[in-house]
Amino acid sequence: MERLDKILAKSGYGTRKEVKQLIKEGRVELAGKVIIDAGFKISAQSIKQISVDGNQAEIHDSLTFMLNKPSGFITALSDARHDTIAEFIPQKWQNKGLVPIGRLDKDTEGLLLLTNDGQLSHRICSPKWGIEKEYYLITQGRPFDRQDIEKFAQGFKTLDGTEFKPAKLKLIDGFEAYLTVCEGQYHQVKRMAKSTGREVKYLKRIRIADLVLDPDLQPGEIRMLTKDERTRLYLACRLMD
Ligand code: URA
Repeated sequence: MERLDKILAKSGYGTRKEVKQLIKEGRVELAGKVIIDAGFKISAQSIKQISVDGNQAEIHDSLTFMLNKPSGFITALSDARHDTIAEFIPQKWQNKGLVPIGRLDKDTEGLLLLTNDGQLSHRICSPKWGIEKEYYLITQGRPFDRQDIEKFAQGFKTLDGTEFKPAKLKLIDGFEAYLTVCEGQYHQVKRMAKSTGREVKYLKRIRIADLVLDPDLQPGEIRMLTKDERTRLYLACRLMD
């Protein structure tokens, strides 16, 4: 048995204070009956019967968000010298233990997930689970050609001994491409490009597993994953939601 306000706060309906207010306003029902006692105890079986504003509540033990990271911010929650992505996390989600899943460089844009589910984070980052991350990149230097596609597809070792696992390079033209990798090594895309004589001028992550960056999410905007996105992500990571 767990308190109603705690269940809702944990599921992202707001801070404990905001959730208490929501309950007080009569917006929360259990099996069609309004509950105004924030401390009302809910059993595991009746959790599915909670509704908020007339819609079945989405109840989870963890929260996962998608941020469209703009350039100019480091992937950290605090830093003495640099602007961090923490400023995009609204107040009501700041004390939920959210941490970024993996890292995007300061000048990289695009899809960054944040979660308070350590296992989910581990599976997305670890090469063992083979979760795809897709990037859009613009390079300068030599134009890409078919040989690069083959080299990346086979995986390769650089002169300094770094090994890159097989990756999919899809060319748009000689300087623009999509690159899909299944690991998350430090500066991975930039180093892969560099080892074939190119410099990455622009980099944006557009997909993780089959979760695509929401085109309506402006740089700096964040939102919770939808129920469907969440289910698909957990399935891809072979985890139960
Ligand atoms: N690879 C990079 O080089 N930089 C990033 O930010 C992400 C992947």
